[in-house]
Amino acid sequence: MNPSFIVVEGLEGAGKSSVIELIRGFLVSKGHEVECTREPGGTPMAEAIRECVKQTWDEVVTQETELLLMYAARSQLVENKIKPAMAANKWVIGDRHDMSSVAYQGGGRGIDLSVLSALRTMTLGSFEPDLVLYLDVEPSVGLARAKGRGELDRIELSGLTFFENARKTYKKLVSASDKAMEINAMQTMDAVHCDVTIALQKWYATYLQTHTPDAAERNVTKASGVR
Ligand code: TMP
Repeated sequence: MNPSFIVVEGLEGAGKSSVIELIRGFLVSKGHEVECTREPGGTPMAEAIRECVKQTWDEVVTQETELLLMYAARSQLVENKIKPAMAANKWVIGDRHDMSSVAYQGGGRGIDLSVLSALRTMTLGSFEPDLVLYLDVEPSVGLARAKGRGELDRIELSGLTFFENARKTYKKLVSASDKAMEINAMQTMDAVHCDVTIALQKWYATYLQTHTPDAAERNVTKASGVR
C-alpha cells in the first residue's frame, strides 16, 4: 500500500499536538512506519526559518517576506524530508502544511490567492496531502490556551481580526475540499479524540479499498473495460 501524507491544521491552541500523537498511534497500530513533521520547520534550514519568522524584529516584517519564508521552509521540508520518507514507505503526519499559508497569509494578511497559487505551483507542483484534519476553534478560545502555554510570538500577536479571517478561510477551504474534514476542537479533549478516531477509521477503510494492489488492479481492469 502506498504511504500517505496526513496533515493536521488549525489555529493556535486548537490541540494539534495531542491529535498528531493520536494519529501516530493509530497508524503504528496498523503496522505503518510513521514520521512526524511540522511547518514551518522540520529540517535544519527550515527550523532556522521558523525561528526567523516567529520572532519579533526591530523592523517591519512585510507580509511578502512572511509569505516567502513560509514557502521557502515548505520547499526544504517537502524535498528533504517528506518525499524521501514516503519513498522509503513511511507515512508522514504534518503539523500544518499549505492550507496554513492560505488561511494565515491569504485570509489573515489578505494576500491575493493568485500569488499563493503561483508559489504553490512553483514549490510543490502537484504534491498535496491525502487527508487534512482541520481542528476548528474560536480564536479567543485558542489564543487563551496558547497564552496559558507562555508568551505569544510575533504571529500570535497579530490580533483577533487576523485570526477570525484565518478561521473563515480555513472553514471555506475545508468545505470545498474532498480531502479535508473539520473537527470541533472546542469540545473536551476526549470528545475531540473520539471524533478524530471515527473520522480516521472511516478514511482509512476507504483508503484501504482504493490503495491496496488488488484495488489498483481492479481499477485498471475497470478502466480498460476488461472483465
Ligand atoms: P505552530 O506550529 O506553533 O502553530 O507555529 C507556526 C506559526 O506559523 C503559527 O502561528 C501559524 C504560522 N504559519 C503561517 O502563518 N503560515 C504558514 O504557512 C504556516 C505553515 C504557519
